[in-house]
Amino acid sequence: MKGIVLAGGSGTRLAPSTNGVNKHLLNVYDKPMIYYPLSVLMLGGIKDILIISTPEDMPRFKEMLGDGSAFGIRLQYMEQKHPDGIPEAFIMAEDFIGYDDVTLILGDNIFYGQGFTTLFRNALRNHKNATIFGSRVKDPERFGVVEFDDNQKVISLEEKPEDPKSDFAAAGLYIYDYRAARIAKQLPYSERGETEITDLNKEYLKGNQLDVQLLGRGFAWMDAGTHESLFEAAEFVKITQQRQGFKIACLEEIAYYMGYISRHTLYEKGEGMKKTDYGQYLMEIANRKHTEQYWESIDKNPLLELVQNE
Ligand code: G1P
Repeated sequence: MKGIVLAGGSGTRLAPSTNGVNKHLLNVYDKPMIYYPLSVLMLGGIKDILIISTPEDMPRFKEMLGDGSAFGIRLQYMEQKHPDGIPEAFIMAEDFIGYDDVTLILGDNIFYGQGFTTLFRNALRNHKNATIFGSRVKDPERFGVVEFDDNQKVISLEEKPEDPKSDFAAAGLYIYDYRAARIAKQLPYSERGETEITDLNKEYLKGNQLDVQLLGRGFAWMDAGTHESLFEAAEFVKITQQRQGFKIACLEEIAYYMGYISRHTLYEKGEGMKKTDYGQYLMEIANRKHTEQYWESIDKNPLLELVQNE
């Protein structure tokens, strides 16, 4: 399974904050926005990840995340000169994907909730053809809208409809087989002058090859693409973290619990940022002593308990 984070675009809805910096580098409370989608791919066990962004912003991402080895993953980068729609990512990444399956996540999407890691991992494991994630929202007309029957079988998909057929938005997380690139090349341009991910999904739907996984009421799915939603997301992260004492989307913590980096490396990372709560947190985790029984009691997968609090 390959992963793609789409972190391009001009971020016009976040001006003037984005006049000099890419949206995905802005902070969501205590860490950059791109940490959140990256954490989702990492929690799914995806290690080969391509970051797509603009030529101007690429150096910043490279400086911040490097080749990914600090987090035990392999990062590659690709420049997108003009935003041309989400499906364009698959065409650009055709060689990177090869004959593998691929998960794409939008760089401003934040997923959090009890059971999310398990749901996502199961979706990756059981995935055939195409899988999307539906989440109930108050303003479905802002999103791709999924209509489905009682058996969760998708009936229709519409991009930003005036009169939505359901309250379920398609979240910015998509799993496809290798055919995504080929199908993307045949998509028409929409009124906003881009190809639409909803049209790609419709192609899979036509062949009865589209699954939807619903994120229940215990999940928070947010996009941080406007000032209002960015502020709300930051508030959510702050309050949840302070209440639980766990950090959301702490890449070093995930890397440690996935067994990608050592306790020593984790500690050193924390020490390098020890003036921050983030750095202190890493040092604290590295110092925690867990007994054999503890690891066994959480089925050798501490992430399920510690990161997602399951
Ligand atoms: C895009 C997709 C839309 C999806 C949304 C999720 O919208 O086109 O189907 O529901 O992401 O964030 P956009 O952000 O381009 O308006």
